[in-house]
Amino acid sequence: MEKYIEKAKILIEALPYIQQFKKKTMVIKYGGSFMYDEARKQSVMDDISLMRLVGIRVIIVHGGGKDISGMLSDLEIQTEFVEGLRITNEKVVEIAEMVLSGKINKEIVQLLQNREMNAVGLSGKDGGMIKVKKKFINNLDIGFVGDIIHIDNRLLNTLLKDDYLPVIAPIGTDKTGQSYNINADHVAYAIAKSMKAEKLIYLTDTDGVYMDPDNPDSIIRRLFAENVPKLIEEGIISGGMIPKVENSVDALNQGVNSVHILDGKVEHCMLLELFTAAGVGTMIRRSII
Ligand SMILES: Nc1ncnc2c1ncn2[C@@H]1O[C@H](COP(=O)(O)OP(=O)(O)O)[C@@H](O)[C@H]1O
Ligand SMILES: [Mg+2]
Repeated sequence: MEKYIEKAKILIEALPYIQQFKKKTMVIKYGGSFMYDEARKQSVMDDISLMRLVGIRVIIVHGGGKDISGMLSDLEIQTEFVEGLRITNEKVVEIAEMVLSGKINKEIVQLLQNREMNAVGLSGKDGGMIKVKKKFINNLDIGFVGDIIHIDNRLLNTLLKDDYLPVIAPIGTDKTGQSYNINADHVAYAIAKSMKAEKLIYLTDTDGVYMDPDNPDSIIRRLFAENVPKLIEEGIISGGMIPKVENSVDALNQGVNSVHILDGKVEHCMLLELFTAAGVGTMIRRSII
């Protein structure tokens, strides 16, 4: 009996959150090694399914750098790197688009469809959603890597209104119609900002933001946007964590309520973060109040 009462308590604990999040939009950046693990992928699907059932409007943005690297090596296409970034020539961006829009996007759509979630796969080309300009790294031209200049969210609003679940591949176009690959973290941020999402959730391979990545006890549970630039400057936040947090100040100032960094490998990480008081990852808020 006790254990059943415990279960009821868990549901009751979730109630205020369920009420608060009904009809709110949440953008999930879908990435990390859970994508390659069947059981963990299903756990993420369970969470998304429940989020939708309680009325949350979910938008997924996915990455896929590992699959692009895999395909380039299968095709024996050599690529050059500058400061850790791949030179994305015409051939590389063509393959990136094929892998992202054709393979990964449709795999995610099918996983959601298997759960009766009405997913629709898109890239930034559909509905003219993502417009970019060429990104330069320290004045270096690294090819067709895009910086987002405009999001047209009309297609997303249309889909959400009819209860579809948009799944977005990080591809955009410039004014000539050329395809560009875009960092998926930046796409997730730009979409969240444009939709004034309640939450922007980054699923990744680390529990959250650490003060010292070698010390699991140093996880920052609550981070305030104003402290982010300093942590980047000091090198505490580096590498792949930078694009997740660097724009959070802007996103939070433009109406996104909170940014979450969660480990997609932790079973039901999103349910724990959204519907319990404790939470499991790092939450970034505007300020202490
Ligand atoms: N302060 C920090 N806390 C946690 N992770 C950090 C920090 N600084 C850098 N990182 C690195 O950022 C990585 C997450 O980014 P990335 O590898 O690009 O993941 P994704 O594929 O999900 O975009 C972590 O695995 C970690 O190596
Ligand atoms: Mg990354």
